[in-house]
Amino acid sequence: MIIAVDGPAAAGKGTLARRLAEHFGLAYLDTGALYRATAMRLLRAGAAVEAEIEAEAAAAAAAAIEPENLVDPTLRQEQTGALASRVSALPEVRAALLQYQRDFAARPPKGSGAVLDGRDIGTVVCPQADHKLFVTASAEERARRRVAELRERGETDVDADQILAELKERDKRDAERQASPLKAAADAHLLDTTNLDIDAAFKAAKALISAAKG
Ligand code: C5P
Repeated sequence: MIIAVDGPAAAGKGTLARRLAEHFGLAYLDTGALYRATAMRLLRAGAAVEAEIEAEAAAAAAAAIEPENLVDPTLRQEQTGALASRVSALPEVRAALLQYQRDFAARPPKGSGAVLDGRDIGTVVCPQADHKLFVTASAEERARRRVAELRERGETDVDADQILAELKERDKRDAERQASPLKAAADAHLLDTTNLDIDAAFKAAKALISAAKG
């Protein structure tokens, strides 16, 4: 069983996808971590967050990603996310990461299936997924969650207005890029989590999947 969970940043996809994987006994792949790990490799090689990205170097960094690169806690830093968002607009990078994602879905480590979360899982990576969810929330609510997450992690210098502006900028870039833009698959179930906490979102997602499974 393959479950595709797509949606914009901080909509609650990751937590939801992880819980669905646990509930249905499936492997889980956070595909955003692949783009973040690619960005991290470029940063470690001396790239600046705002500088122009060299497509060939970025594609080589993407092609070199190994599973152990995806568990680095620094991947969640804002500057990594900012560069990941720009790196992910390059078709060369998306092509380099496509096989990794498809291989994971075809041969998940746990054997019985997988949940993948990202931006283009239901549309490009796994268009044949058994279940597709498109998880959204208002930009304001997503920014509020991101601020809370950063504060929880101990970051004291958090500018809420800046977080909201950056989130909107990232949404725009993800939705407007030519290569695999963020969009709901025609057969995806929409799940707006603006007024749902994680338990309620999980319950709603589980009900959608269980109903489809019959
Ligand atoms: O989901 P997360 O914020 O970790 O993703 C980091 C960046 O990677 C996003 O801003 C998005 O641009 C990109 N991404 C993507 N396609 C995916 C997953 C993430 O373009 N499947």
